[in-house]
Amino acid sequence: MSEHISVSRDGGVLRLTFNRTEKKNAITVAMYKALADGLIEADRDDSVRVVLFDAEGEIYSAGNDIADFMAGDPARDDPHATPEVVRFLEAIATAETPLVAAVQGPAVGVGVTMLLHCDLVYAAEAATFHTPFVDLALVPEAASSLLLPRVAGYQRAAEMLLLGKKINAARAREFGFVNDVVAGGALAETAYEAAQALAAKAPRALVLSKRLAKGDPAEVLKHMREEGAHFAAQLKSPEFMEAGAAFLQKRKPDFSNPS
Ligand code: COA
Repeated sequence: MSEHISVSRDGGVLRLTFNRTEKKNAITVAMYKALADGLIEADRDDSVRVVLFDAEGEIYSAGNDIADFMAGDPARDDPHATPEVVRFLEAIATAETPLVAAVQGPAVGVGVTMLLHCDLVYAAEAATFHTPFVDLALVPEAASSLLLPRVAGYQRAAEMLLLGKKINAARAREFGFVNDVVAGGALAETAYEAAQALAAKAPRALVLSKRLAKGDPAEVLKHMREEGAHFAAQLKSPEFMEAGAAFLQKRKPDFSNPS
């Protein structure tokens, strides 16, 4: 449980809501744990037919908490423990329960890459999508370096993953990872109606159809682990220390003298 992820239930829909508005819904280790637990429980509990992700405040999520990145997850260095972020990413990549997301504002980093695993993604006109991994001296995660080129095409993916360009909701729809862009006031209802419509469908047929459409998750998990190894190494690199310190000190990083 995390006070920063609100969990609520309406019929067959389990709603997981980012609720850390004072830090722009940046995701901490405790929040990853709550998200992973929610997804795993949803797959175990037949009465949960759909998971709906949404967020309080104006920002969907500022991505991984950068202070947490710098402090590290104690589990990351324990060969016998699975870091909570990995539990979350594996749970979302292998979820059998259909996943719907309502993105009301800016999404950054894992706030974007998690959407590549959702089945239906709705965005408000105010939503933006930004994956500045390279700007933080990191590499893409959540298998986004596999899934984004697949859904958007290589050059469009490069625009987001290499150049770190922030795109708006209309462009995200063109890229293919947003189903529909709606006025801000209509977002909650649009996403909720879609979630309830899925929840009312024949559950076995729905889960089987999702499995058939997604295919074997082995390739995605393998790619995610490869990204994860580079990501973990980069977190210990001098270039990341510079990028992380620059973020916290609200200044531009200086990569002119990499050691
Ligand atoms: N991790 C930790 N803290 C974060 C954060 C993050 N990813 N994103 C924002 N915050 C914190 C800020 O440090 C600030 O804290 P403070 O009030 O104690 O100084 C607070 O949230 C407000 O952030 P601020 O940048 O002032 O808000 P904004 O509305 O001007 O901008 C964002 C919102 C999301 C556009 C901006 O915060 C941002 O770009 N964040 C970093 C996103 C990022 O690089 N994530 C990692 C991707 S891999």
